[in-house]
Amino acid sequence: MAVLKLYEYPDEVLRQKCQKVDKVDDALRHFLDDMLETMYVDKGCGLAAPQVGVTKRIIVLDPNPSDEDLSLRQPMYLINPEIVWSSDEMVLFKEGCLSLPDQRAEVERHEKVRVRFLDYNGKEQEILADDLLAIILQHEIDHLEGVLYIDHISRLKRTRLLNKLNKYYHEREQECDNA
Ligand code: NI
Repeated sequence: MAVLKLYEYPDEVLRQKCQKVDKVDDALRHFLDDMLETMYVDKGCGLAAPQVGVTKRIIVLDPNPSDEDLSLRQPMYLINPEIVWSSDEMVLFKEGCLSLPDQRAEVERHEKVRVRFLDYNGKEQEILADDLLAIILQHEIDHLEGVLYIDHISRLKRTRLLNKLNKYYHEREQECDNA
């Protein structure tokens, strides 16, 4: 397995609409393994293919990406995921994203969603998700449309968050220069 390069805001690849996958083969499974490894290394609970520069409809996730007890991990691979039903009830949750490092903001999402997808073996599956899993699914499926969580917050909050993000990038760059 390999850790892939992570693309960060404002990279153009994060704004592309992703293409459907037509074949689940060994090459794709190899890529899924690399995506999962990258997600765990970067301490995320979800990752979409455009975040590693690939504009295909693929996501990996784990609502409990535990480092201490690997047996608690619950990785999921979803190919061509599609929300086929969502609840009217909404919930607020403070979200982050590996492509906008060190930032968080409260986003409104459907409390429950039903998602249809192809699994690791190319078999069609459907799940009814709630809680954190429902939120991760909506966040990651957004990525496949080129949508980021900051698109769901007010302009004022977005401006503040992006200012903080730029400051973070600047500080990170200086740390590298000093190293
Ligand atoms: Ni994200």
